[in-house]
Amino acid sequence: MNLTLKIWRQKGPQDKGRMVEYKVTDISEHMSFLEMMDVLNESLVAKDEEPIAFDHDCREGICGMCSLQINGEAHGPDRGITTCQLHMRMFKDGDTIYIEPFRANAFPVIKDLVVDRMAFERIQQAGGYISVNTSGNTQDANSIPISKHNADLSMDAASCIGCGACVASCKNSSAMLFVAAKVSQFALLPQGKVEAKDRVKNMVFQMDLEGFGNCTNTGACEIECPKGISIENIARLNREYLAATI
Ligand code: SF4
Ligand code: FES
Repeated sequence: MNLTLKIWRQKGPQDKGRMVEYKVTDISEHMSFLEMMDVLNESLVAKDEEPIAFDHDCREGICGMCSLQINGEAHGPDRGITTCQLHMRMFKDGDTIYIEPFRANAFPVIKDLVVDRMAFERIQQAGGYISVNTSGNTQDANSIPISKHNADLSMDAASCIGCGACVASCKNSSAMLFVAAKVSQFALLPQGKVEAKDRVKNMVFQMDLEGFGNCTNTGACEIECPKGISIENIARLNREYLAATI
């Protein structure tokens, strides 16, 4: 395939940034999207030009690092996958592809397609954990009965990889789906009940402090989420928050 790429270039956080056009040729449909980006970067380096900065790590849908907005959609046109799992067979020869960073005030651009998602880390630090007694008399986890239904729901919520696609897809740049997943994974388990009230209050407080918008039930986050996190978790987050603040 021969493709035209319109890619966001931005030298640093203070730079205004702009779209720059590139051509790539002989792209195999079997390549991943990031391999296509590698090909482009190799050609830029060969011409002594600055390669395009973009985030990636595991390249197998686990770490949540890859974060491109492709033709206006977080992680591109496919469903239930991250950018690193997107394949070029989703595009046609001659296509023009627009590639931008995830856009949100709380995710400032560091360079080109790389954004700062430390706001998510700070929300996690505010309460996304449980305290466990490790003094030598730790209770065996298997001795605490948990219903299959709740265990499954908790596991589903825990599959959130913190990629930020929910924020990038939301017209309000809301982080509610992310926070809802992180709150739900513990709210559904007995181990998470002990600190439940402080957890939800502290995480929501930090979410607001970071400048994320509120949820208006549009549901774009659920559609673009690579892990299929349901907005039912947002309903649970709201219930948990209400119960903790009454
Ligand atoms: S809820 Fe989905 S889209 Fe949002 S950070 Fe988690 S995995 Fe990514
Ligand atoms: S690079 Fe790890 S999820 Fe895409």
